[in-house]
Amino acid sequence: MKILLCASEGAPFAKTGGLADVIGALPKALKKEGHDVRVIMPYYKKIKEKNVAYYQGYSYVRIANRMEYVGVFHAIADDVDYYFIDSERYFNRDGFYGYRDDGERFAFFCFAVLEAIRVVNFYPDIIHNNDWQTGLIPYILKTNYSEHYEYSKIRTVFSIHNIQYQGNFPMDMMGILYMPYSSSLEFGGCIDFMKTAIMESNIITTVSPSYKDEVLTDQYGYYLNNILGLRYFDFEGILNGIDVDKYNPKTDKLIYKNYDIKTVTSGKKANKEALLKEFGLDDDDAPLFGLVSRLVDQKGIDLLMPIIDDVINHSNAKFILMGSGDAYYEDFFRSVEARYPNRFKAYIGYSDPVAQKIYAGCDIFLMPSKFEPCGLGQMIAMRYGTLPLVRETGGLKDTVFAYNQYTGEGTGFTFTNFNAFDLKEVMFLAIDIYNNHKPAFKKLIKQAMEKDYSWKQSALAYINLYKRLV
Ligand code: GLC
Repeated sequence: MKILLCASEGAPFAKTGGLADVIGALPKALKKEGHDVRVIMPYYKKIKEKNVAYYQGYSYVRIANRMEYVGVFHAIADDVDYYFIDSERYFNRDGFYGYRDDGERFAFFCFAVLEAIRVVNFYPDIIHNNDWQTGLIPYILKTNYSEHYEYSKIRTVFSIHNIQYQGNFPMDMMGILYMPYSSSLEFGGCIDFMKTAIMESNIITTVSPSYKDEVLTDQYGYYLNNILGLRYFDFEGILNGIDVDKYNPKTDKLIYKNYDIKTVTSGKKANKEALLKEFGLDDDDAPLFGLVSRLVDQKGIDLLMPIIDDVINHSNAKFILMGSGDAYYEDFFRSVEARYPNRFKAYIGYSDPVAQKIYAGCDIFLMPSKFEPCGLGQMIAMRYGTLPLVRETGGLKDTVFAYNQYTGEGTGFTFTNFNAFDLKEVMFLAIDIYNNHKPAFKKLIKQAMEKDYSWKQSALAYINLYKRLV
């Protein structure tokens, strides 16, 4: 099968979050199963500056009262073909998102993707779109290309990585789109890219079975739950994997000392020692909590705020946290660090090398998310023998199994309700197991490391679904 994966970011070229990891890893896994998989994304300034892509051709699309130039570039990474949409006007900017004209930029991207197919002469069987930035593609395909034979055979899949971000823009945007009006485009008096994709794609997926169930409810659906309900029988949850070659404690060049399941005890000890030293904390065999996250309300930092003083004052736990995002959470991290400089360190920002060192060097990895479509951090943590402490939501619920003190089973620690006291209780449980039940803690580490979260299973699930369509 010929598959075109379409997204607004993808590793190794452009990354702000987990979506980029998926777009970086899924094509490789699909290729291993023998399919022709290619990826298409915007040619941001950051990618341009790398100077690794070659010009393929050009076309024009009609938008905002202009015929707008669409350049197509091509590069190969990890044996996968990447195409980039070049536009001086829309993408040659420092950032990826957050511009006043984001609606127009990504509407342009949607039109441009369909033109690029003609430019590079790659007519896929499946266009697999991801998140709102690609949401108009199935609709444009239907309205503008249905009479073209090669295009008319294309089927579309849309994956929701986070339903909170839908691409809502004022209805008067219709004026720049040159598309017939359809109720598929409109939601709550706005244009809603994600709703369009839900209505117009052949199949909709999201990134874990539990998140799939959740987004069908008022609590998690961000108002689109009833729309998704209309497509219930075409809606599936497929768990993401992680890139087990990239995230491998045995070969990871970014961590202090390599190890595997057999050498995990000494390996983690060495990594923890070096990490504590780097952050200026004493090594006195206290449990070390880590966190690597975008600092936004989704991530459950609100639960940590009211209890962190209690945990620090009534235990020996230490913390090394990394993230950036809302000033409100960044300032909270800074203020705790100021109060407990010997116990709590905050790295405000993001760095891949530091992230890997935290995954390898900590004992417990915190992810108390309010919602989590899949979550990759908990899977990476388990691969490095760091026990995740998570709220049972979305992909966290599907990947982390709670410690059972009677049987010793489990791969981490979990709590159910979005409640700070519940988080505190399970943090004290984890601290107690670490301090007073070393063999149980070690057993959990082994069990976590034995779990297989590679992409293979997910790739097979996607292939099955593509096959249903062609
Ligand atoms: C989004 C979600 C995250 C998921 C990722 C990849 O970033 O918030 O839970 O793992 O997409 O699908």
